[in-house]
Amino acid sequence: MSRQNNTSVIILAAGQGTRMKSTLPKVLHDVAGRPMLGYAMLLARHVANNNVAVVVGHGADQVRAYLVKEKAHFDPFLVVEQTQQLGTGHAVQQAYPALKQHSSQAASKYVIINGDTPLLTSETLAALVNYHQSEGAMLTLLTTVLTDPSGYGRILRGNEGSVCRVVEDRDASSEEKRVSEINVGTYVVEAGFLESVLGQLHPQNAQGEYYITDIIEIAVQQGEKVLAWVTEDSLETTGVNTRVHLAVVEKEMRRRICERMMLGGVTILDPDRVVVDHHVTVGRDTVLHPGVILEGETHVGENCTIRANSRLTHSVLHRGVRIHDACVLEEATVEEEAVIGPMAHLRPGNVIHKKAKIGNFVELKKTEVGEGSKVNHLSYLGDTWIGRNVNVGAGTITCNYDGYRKERTVIEDNVFIGSDVQLIAPVTIGEGALIAAGTTVTEDVPADALGISRIPQTNKEGTAARRRAMLDPSGLPSNGKNCTTEDLPTSTPVIQKEQEST
Ligand code: UD1
Ligand code: CA
Repeated sequence: MSRQNNTSVIILAAGQGTRMKSTLPKVLHDVAGRPMLGYAMLLARHVANNNVAVVVGHGADQVRAYLVKEKAHFDPFLVVEQTQQLGTGHAVQQAYPALKQHSSQAASKYVIINGDTPLLTSETLAALVNYHQSEGAMLTLLTTVLTDPSGYGRILRGNEGSVCRVVEDRDASSEEKRVSEINVGTYVVEAGFLESVLGQLHPQNAQGEYYITDIIEIAVQQGEKVLAWVTEDSLETTGVNTRVHLAVVEKEMRRRICERMMLGGVTILDPDRVVVDHHVTVGRDTVLHPGVILEGETHVGENCTIRANSRLTHSVLHRGVRIHDACVLEEATVEEEAVIGPMAHLRPGNVIHKKAKIGNFVELKKTEVGEGSKVNHLSYLGDTWIGRNVNVGAGTITCNYDGYRKERTVIEDNVFIGSDVQLIAPVTIGEGALIAAGTTVTEDVPADALGISRIPQTNKEGTAARRRAMLDPSGLPSNGKNCTTEDLPTSTPVIQKEQEST
């Protein structure tokens, strides 16, 4: 889209958002993983070739902190504080002089947008600005027609159809409330007129606020050219005042994201049930099954498959990775053709190298698994470095925490670890070593050695038979004639039965 000459933008973002019933300022509520204000900022950057002012007030410190964090995407912009939120007109009254003072070049016109309309597109905004320019208007506002216009300012038109004024829902008569054309809260105003009109606003209305919408009536009364650009996509104009609106906007934003991905070559089996945040990228020929959630800075390569109900947060998958059902990956890096899950939990800080395999019910934390290595069943590995072609047996656990400190475990290339092994960190298993099933490893194991620690097994001849004989057919204890105390199991089925019957 071409940039408009000398256009400054004012974003209204100071309101409390009382109807959200939240401690978070309204404009910081996320839509598809980005605060609503972020959408307004990006939109502003599309249309402004001059400065952008953001009016903050309620929760100003939090809003400012967000803007600073994302500065690189939004610059240049100016933050103007509206210490008391006396209305949208009052907010513009604060922004205008600040913008005028801080802009090297005087703006010839101003675009004013609400910070709570995240679905508004740059195409629609461009159409509004172009219409304003080509018609030589003094003031042009964006409107749309809704089946349920409640809550919005209504557009009141005269006999010839020209816009006369905007009446707020709370100030409207029952007849005015029946008007279905609404004010989106997006305006293009010539600079000179804006400057002259701001001093004329007064708070004589139901809310006792200074309304920016009053500039419309004033312009009409002064004989200025006031136009409305009616957009047909009314969903796009949804203003978020409650969490119900937030859900509507969220759903539409996610639909757009999924659509963009599908058009880019990603298969999404059920777009209604796939949740993808704004920043996420997904490569071609990747397949997303129902219930997949991709959050934050997640980047998925080509030819991956992510099966049902898996969530990836700030994770990177290289090409050809398969994530089976119901996995959780946080801040993970998974290299080519590795396989994860089902039901694996990768807590932050894991790197899974090429063709490695992490199987069922495996939890990993700050662990690196080398190329082709396997951790297939029921394991917890934390603070662990694993080389290539290692086999970690079922039920292997690293004991990485002694109650005070976290310690590291190192498992070198080609190690074979049997089932049910505990590795008490810090410990190193040398290259090619073998650890017997059931071993508790407390000391380093040299390369190519066998590490084994087991209580020697004893078989007591006939004990099982005697124990059976101890029980009569009704399951009640016998007189114990045939068995010695040593033979008695610590918890017999008989005792369990008695407990069950109480
Ligand atoms: C506003 C419009 C209404 C329009 C609707 C579209 C006015 C008076 N009304 O109503 O005609 O149909 O948007 O969504 O403008 N804000 C400030 N400072 C304030 C008050 C609000 O910066 O003192 C900001 C808010 O953070 C918000 C925006 O202005 O981003 C709109 O405020 P809100 O209270 O949501 O106005 P609506 O009642 O929705
Ligand atoms: Ca609003």
